[in-house]
Amino acid sequence: MKQRPATDAAAIDHAVQLLRQGRLVAFPTETVYGLGADAANPDAVRRIFAAKGRPADHPLIVHIKDTETLTDWAASVPDTARQLAAHFWPGPLAIILTKKPSVSMTVTGGQNTVALRVPSHPVALRLLQAFDGGIAAPSANRFCRISPTQARHVAEELGDAVDLILDGGACQVGVESTIVDLSCAHPRLLRPGHITPFEIETVLQTELLMPVSAGAETIRAPGMMALHYAPTTAAMLCSTQDLPASIERLAIDGKRVGVLAYRYTLTTQPPSQIICLPEQADQYAQGLYASLRELDNLSLDIILVEQPPQTAAWQAINDRLQKATIAR
Ligand code: TXA
Ligand code: MG
Repeated sequence: MKQRPATDAAAIDHAVQLLRQGRLVAFPTETVYGLGADAANPDAVRRIFAAKGRPADHPLIVHIKDTETLTDWAASVPDTARQLAAHFWPGPLAIILTKKPSVSMTVTGGQNTVALRVPSHPVALRLLQAFDGGIAAPSANRFCRISPTQARHVAEELGDAVDLILDGGACQVGVESTIVDLSCAHPRLLRPGHITPFEIETVLQTELLMPVSAGAETIRAPGMMALHYAPTTAAMLCSTQDLPASIERLAIDGKRVGVLAYRYTLTTQPPSQIICLPEQADQYAQGLYASLRELDNLSLDIILVEQPPQTAAWQAINDRLQKATIAR
């Protein structure tokens, strides 16, 4: 595996060469780092599943360079897709449409639909323009682990399984894209993200259906599996009010406790490690995965996560935290 600064002039050309050869290239997007392969090459796409340890029926997002390219992948492009694309692309929104027959079932995990997104990160866009094709890219982490928001996280996760990592610095958004399914009669939110349901409803002038809960659609609906974005260390949500007492109780029991907070908490028995993220949801999201990863690397007995507010601005964060923690 090679890591190259994306500012290096030859780095994009090198990445394109590798993609054309069916190899894997990790690259930054505004949400998280993606593990990319030529979406039109089923062998290359199979390499993604192998590198991640991801089941073959778990579909990938195809990244495209612009809205016009939608017709290369989607059987038809409804007005709703054009409206959302006009407002939010390039940006952290993936839309699901019925696929063209030519689109390989390998990339769609056997589905008749395909997820599409134009990312806004300048490195991702430059790569897509130079490659001039679709790049299938899930988050560049091992299956069910924390998504990478820095190039070195990708190296830690995937090592030699990836042929090149384009280093574009830390991701700005920090949590994965919002996913909206437009392949059915009525638009449905599949995964909350930086773009909120309210913003989407405002553009579409209709109410969004909400994600279906785990069950028949477990594999298809993103992140529906328990512990989807989980650290290795047991993590638990804890209210602001209960946090000091919980820290003290665990510390008295001799446990090494890590805390992920967003308000400073003073305790007489300090935890082994405390990371305090900003109180603004956007800034919190930016630091969330790197902080969980940092705590996870400390061989702690438990990570206590201070429960953030349950408001719309925090929906994506609460969704990921729910999946990163065990129920009490
Ligand atoms: O922000 C993001 O979307 C990042 C960056 C790299 O773009 N990518 C990402 O990919 O989060 P991944 O594979 O970790 O998550 C994509 C989710 C999966 O949970 C998958 O179930 C869902 O998208 N998905 C993809 N195609 C689908 C389809 N045809 N129908 C339903 N869900 C689909
Ligand atoms: Mg992922």
